[in-house]
Amino acid sequence: MTTASLPPAWSDGLLVCKQVHDVTADVRTFVFEPTEPRLFRHDPGQFLTLVLDIDGHPVERCYTISSPPTRPDLVAVTVKRVPGGLVSNWLHDRLAPGTTVRARGPLGQFSLARHPAPKYLFLSAGSGVTPMMSMTRTLYDLAHPVDVVFVHSARTFDDIIFRRELEFIAAAAPHIRVVHLLDDRGEQLNAERLRETAPDFLQREVFTCGPLGYMEAVRRMLSAEGFDMAHYHEESFTFAASAVPEHDTGQGYKVEFTRSGRTIDCDAGTTVLAAASRAGITLPASCAQGMCGTCKTTLLSGSVDMQHNGGIRPREVAHNKILLCCSKPLDHLVIDA
Ligand code: FES
Repeated sequence: MTTASLPPAWSDGLLVCKQVHDVTADVRTFVFEPTEPRLFRHDPGQFLTLVLDIDGHPVERCYTISSPPTRPDLVAVTVKRVPGGLVSNWLHDRLAPGTTVRARGPLGQFSLARHPAPKYLFLSAGSGVTPMMSMTRTLYDLAHPVDVVFVHSARTFDDIIFRRELEFIAAAAPHIRVVHLLDDRGEQLNAERLRETAPDFLQREVFTCGPLGYMEAVRRMLSAEGFDMAHYHEESFTFAASAVPEHDTGQGYKVEFTRSGRTIDCDAGTTVLAAASRAGITLPASCAQGMCGTCKTTLLSGSVDMQHNGGIRPREVAHNKILLCCSKPLDHLVIDA
């Protein structure tokens, strides 16, 4: 196939599920193909937003693409079933080959393509392995001799996601070292273990993905070791990250949510989504970074400072749409949520 005959890049559209693989007892990979001839030209580490109809309700969730852009005909997401999780359970129970879903993307900045370096350290826990897997597969497929130390933490041996494939890659490409730490063996990631595993970690570009507590511990550990955090990158789609109180300006506003009838206080230095979460109001959100559009809603009155990352279009802004995850009040607000 010549370059001139290549299909255009896929973005924002319909995908049909082609395959479903069991990866571990509670993790599955869903492989999709575009409904029209398109190629996936994402950066490894980027994510898709799946736009689903679950029991008549529209629901959106971000999932990191686990497949590499070097295999551009198909795209895959790898999803852990979360007890009580609306979307993960729907995907595991209902998404089968032949099912069509809508998706947006690819989106996101969490990619080695945006931070080229001679040496990387990938740190992941649980399903945080997925962006690292896309990056590792990419480096392997391209025979890129970049030096990678990949330390993944799992609960037990059987919970290691992509274990066999990672073993194969590490055996075939010795410049990619893979180390698994297992909770049930008391193997925790700490500074001593990191110094043993990657003595030159201070010189590596670090990518981290996992539960919020894990990433917080990694940040603390690296900072205490004198790591230059300009070379640190992390991602999580666990919204609680932005529920942490932000910069308190002392300038308080009222935010009224018309559908729930609740009114909360929100500081001018705090996003509406974070303030709502602190007040115990759960609103649709996914990336919490102004990228995916999941938290989009209508501002009925008031004004906000919205610093988004492409998750909303100018014409939507013109129609009073805002992204709650990256909007801070400049006034008392009334919101259609
Ligand atoms: Fe993704 Fe707000 S949660 S844009």
